[in-house]
Amino acid sequence: MEPKRISPVSLDLYNLFILVTLALLFQIGVLAASSESRLFFNFYAASCPTAELMVRNTVRSASALDPTVPGKLLRLLFHDCMVEGCDASVLLEGNQTERSDPANASLGGFSVVDSAKDLLELFCPGTISCSDILALAARDAVEFAGGPSVNIPTGRRDGRVSSVSNVRPNMVDTSFTLDEMLELFSSKGLSLDDLVTLSGAHTIGSAHCSTFSDRFQEDSNGTMTSIDASLDKIYARELIKQCPIGASESVTVNNDPETSLLFDNQYYRNLISHKGLFQSDSVLFVDGRTKAKVEELSRSQEIFFQQWTQSFQKLCSVGVKTGEEGEIRTSCRAING
Ligand code: HEM
Repeated sequence: MEPKRISPVSLDLYNLFILVTLALLFQIGVLAASSESRLFFNFYAASCPTAELMVRNTVRSASALDPTVPGKLLRLLFHDCMVEGCDASVLLEGNQTERSDPANASLGGFSVVDSAKDLLELFCPGTISCSDILALAARDAVEFAGGPSVNIPTGRRDGRVSSVSNVRPNMVDTSFTLDEMLELFSSKGLSLDDLVTLSGAHTIGSAHCSTFSDRFQEDSNGTMTSIDASLDKIYARELIKQCPIGASESVTVNNDPETSLLFDNQYYRNLISHKGLFQSDSVLFVDGRTKAKVEELSRSQEIFFQQWTQSFQKLCSVGVKTGEEGEIRTSCRAING
């Protein structure tokens, strides 16, 4: 039997269909690639090949001299990325800049970023953004504290806007419910899993008494007692001892009572033993939506490190400015003149 012949018309239609499909696929591919490739790995390979090494060495020396540096740098990055995206807006000095909000009053690590910037301005003037320096510094800080080595793309540009009025609507607070935290994280493209994983940052660093004092109250004898049922009793007593009534405002306690200087998955075991320092930590084990994730990360440091890598890369990409946006600041504390 003679094979069925395809008419030239249907052939043309068929070719047209293939062409349109290919064009669409190509366009989708290009768009996907371009939205992802706003930042690049080794962005400074040609313009300043030793940039990442210089940041790394600065963070290494600072952390060796002062073991609280890694926690400070990591929190500084978080506070930067939540407000105006990761654009170093948190570093700008001034009366009404983000730094003047009380939520940012206890931030540290600024001088480490400045030291790295000074060095880079010497070798590669006007080339490396403060936002990249901060992201790289926080990445390295985690590694120097025993955490995973994370590859992050660069090419961020520095913002020219930093307003105190932008802080509150974009910053989490220890009194937040899980829904409130989730809403804020979602608005930055971060998921519930990212929230649980990134909260693991509280495996290092410290906190002022005032940030968790609402979990206690004074009894009729003027003695502090725990009012928060989600706190382990012995841990609560320990916190009360470290933060007695009338303690100086500068007193701090370790976020992780077990391994405070080590970036490990102890934070999740603390949550399970009811030793989450902030109410916003404890809630992650109390709420059914996040409990299983806490348990998973408590069981395996390897899984925590894998997920940290992904969530940290996402955090470092929140609202970044690239290409012609923003500027490369000469000093991280002020916009260019
Ligand atoms: C999700 C809700 C979060 C809340 C409510 C929260 C709140 C806080 C508070 C109140 C402190 C103590 C500040 C002080 O008294 O000096 C703190 C410390 C810290 N936070 Fe968070 N945080 C959250 C998430 C994160 C995330 C996502 C990161 C990083 C990825 C982070 C990193 C840190 C670090 C490293 C410290 C210790 C800072 C130091 O030692 O100077 N936090 N956090």
